[in-house]
Amino acid sequence: MDIINSVEEMQQRALTARGNGQKIAFVPTMGYLHQGHLSLLEEGRRRGVLLVLSIFVNPTQFGQGEDFDDYPRDLRKDCALAEEVGVDLVFAPDAKQMYPSGYATYVDVERLTESLCGASRPGHFRGVTTVVNKLFNIVQPHVALFGCKDFQQLAVIRQMVTDLNMPVDVIGMPIVREEDGLAMSSRNVYLSAAQRLQALTLSAILGESAHRATAGERDPQVLIEAARQRIAELADARIDYIQICHQDSLEDMTQIDDNAVMLLAVYIGDTRLIDNGYLLR
Ligand code: PAJ
Repeated sequence: MDIINSVEEMQQRALTARGNGQKIAFVPTMGYLHQGHLSLLEEGRRRGVLLVLSIFVNPTQFGQGEDFDDYPRDLRKDCALAEEVGVDLVFAPDAKQMYPSGYATYVDVERLTESLCGASRPGHFRGVTTVVNKLFNIVQPHVALFGCKDFQQLAVIRQMVTDLNMPVDVIGMPIVREEDGLAMSSRNVYLSAAQRLQALTLSAILGESAHRATAGERDPQVLIEAARQRIAELADARIDYIQICHQDSLEDMTQIDDNAVMLLAVYIGDTRLIDNGYLLR
């Protein structure tokens, strides 16, 4: 497995692989890998001949006062895990290479980015689409894998790829959870033991809501109100949003059907956690 820091070298390797007819599978991450990331890599391994992992904590997708400086990093461990799942190339550039002085170009997807995480993290998705666009240009993937854990991010990236005619097949992968239901996230390391227990309420809410929807509840407000009450019982929790949205438009639904996804963003202490799940499948 090779570790590449240089943008030019990465792009050269990718173009050479393409020239040799190799199919490139790509998993972009911010590192601090867990089983969720590894599941994307395992699927990438099946889909490509050259499997590329990028590790880059992208400054442009963090807002003022967010956790860019504190974001957990462990490149050595990440590389060991990557090697185990059969990654061929790790691309780990530094911020100066990705955004040299004078950098001035951004990609902005309208509409889908305005609600949910986009509303509470202005500029976040602009940073995500910009860096993913750059990474696609550098890594030249045929197929790129993303997790449904970041449901809105996946929708936004699909929109960008469609709108900008990018020749990349975007694959969405299921959420990988801890045994107790907590969605895996690099940010889970921020949680104290007591906070981690409270964090379990997020996946519990999704489970209960799906259960009630399956039993016949069709009113989103009933499920949202029940969820709000459960969060209100927690000592360290603060709701950012709880919404039930159409899977494609991400607009609020007035009646639950099999397009309905419940999306949550909740602060536990200072840690902002997100989770989501379909209500009727
Ligand atoms: P990061 O949070 O490191 O996530 C990288 C990829 O792993 C994303 O596609 C995310 O949805 C997926 N992922 C995270 N937790 C998961 C879980 N529990 N189960 C399944 N997949 C999971 O998302 C980003 O980085 C960045 O925004 C990035 C796309 C790399 C752009 O900087």
